[in-house]
Amino acid sequence: MATEDILIIDFGSQYNQLIARKVREHDVFCEIVPPDISAASIRKKNVKGIILSGGPASVYAKNAPSCDKEIFSLGIPVLGICYGMQLMTKLLGGKVERTRFREYGRAALTVTNRRMLFKHIPKKSVSWMSHGDKVKRMPQGFTRLALSKNTSIAAFADFRRRLYGVQFHPEVVHTEHGKTIIKNFVKDICRCSGDWSMRSFVKDTISEIRKVVGKKEKVVLGLSGGVDSSVTALLINKAIGHRLVCIFVDNGLLRKNEAGSVKEIFQKHFKINLKCVDASKYFLNELRGVQDPEKKRKIIGRTFIKVFEEEAHKVGGVKFLAQGTLYPDLIESRSAFGGPSATIKTHHNVGGLPKEMKLKLIEPLKYLFKDEVRRVGRELKMPQEVLGRHPFPGPGLAVRIIGEVTKARCDILREVDDRFISALRSNNLYDKIWQAFAVLLPIKSVGVMGDERTYENVVAIRAVTSLDGMTADWAKIPHEVLGKVSNRIINEVNGVNRVVYDISSKPPSTIEWE
Ligand code: XMP
Repeated sequence: MATEDILIIDFGSQYNQLIARKVREHDVFCEIVPPDISAASIRKKNVKGIILSGGPASVYAKNAPSCDKEIFSLGIPVLGICYGMQLMTKLLGGKVERTRFREYGRAALTVTNRRMLFKHIPKKSVSWMSHGDKVKRMPQGFTRLALSKNTSIAAFADFRRRLYGVQFHPEVVHTEHGKTIIKNFVKDICRCSGDWSMRSFVKDTISEIRKVVGKKEKVVLGLSGGVDSSVTALLINKAIGHRLVCIFVDNGLLRKNEAGSVKEIFQKHFKINLKCVDASKYFLNELRGVQDPEKKRKIIGRTFIKVFEEEAHKVGGVKFLAQGTLYPDLIESRSAFGGPSATIKTHHNVGGLPKEMKLKLIEPLKYLFKDEVRRVGRELKMPQEVLGRHPFPGPGLAVRIIGEVTKARCDILREVDDRFISALRSNNLYDKIWQAFAVLLPIKSVGVMGDERTYENVVAIRAVTSLDGMTADWAKIPHEVLGKVSNRIINEVNGVNRVVYDISSKPPSTIEWE
């Protein structure tokens, strides 16, 4: 990977991914690792610094997560955040106690020592706290660096051993100078040079893929045309050329011209070895009469694996399967503490892994966040049209057609979706919106066209703003644009006589309707 590494030991904080992103903002590579990592294994890597994350437990609680105490004797700088600071206190002989007044949210921070960690930080600033315990007595050798109203030791340090702790969360945006604090830690205290760039990532990953795959073996990849599988395809293609075989499955549930544009970009432009399979009849046949959304998803997943396996089999002699897994999926699938965030969201993977194929996995993006994948794509000259694409669910239009999925209904929805998306593009709204699409409802409404009464379909259009799809708000598209979109849809798409705009946020609604 990179030559420098910061380890983030995961004690179950909901902000762990945020810490990783904040470290990477300074071009420093970092990894989130479970608490049972040993000091001996850390010694073998080029670890420049360790961050102990926050977490929901109390350090004296039964089964509270802990870490190898030797970590503090490696000579590597350590920064404990919240629970991490309290654990450091306990393991090094200090004392932690329950606070009388919990601190949640913004808290005024007073810095009492502006050396190293708090370099360039004003004496008074706002920090973000979320804790019920606090440090009562510091371990030997430590000095207080900051205090807040309810926490007399809000930050501390043993400058000689380069051990630091903060009770607040520098990784969240509400901590005014959090970015500088993290920079001071990774750049000044850990002395990282910041050699983690997308250019170095591309170079290292290509040589790594060559080493793993060897000079003869073949790799298959399910290419959906989305950002993740597209960037994975380009990277592997750069490494092994036509020994990467991309399989694009047209399941009949795609948007207008989708198959054509994938062929245009990957086959013609990038000269990638691409097999396009038109399995639309097969999928639609399997979906006949099915109304339940979860059943639809299962059928589509199962059918995808079947078609994909058959095609991969035809390629022959394949040893590797590539997937566009990203870091958040990886972290969630191996979270140390179980709970809801530990279950991998299988529905977010296109089809999942065909187990019976016994292929070795290649996941070149598994340490990257989405924005980093886009940067890698830019590095590889991927067109903005692909990189800026809204997410599109694996089950495609099937979860946007409420009720039974038929070719005729897919055709209507494709046309409606096309009118909506092209209007967003021509009004410069597409890139400001996180996801936009149309939904075909299972009801008909009365209308009048010319002198005739109509009785046709109703469609909903939905556009949301969001950062990660976990929460979302409905997009405030100007009324004139909505009006024009509605007119175009009703005038140009046969079978639709009414358009409604979805104004629900997530939660309590979801982004998709099914
Ligand atoms: P929801 O509807 O859960 O959607 O708010 C959040 C994000 O996930 C996408 N989504 C899916 N993606 N398979 C996928 O690959 C699915 O079954 C699926 N369901 C929802 C949705 O489009 C949104 O981006």
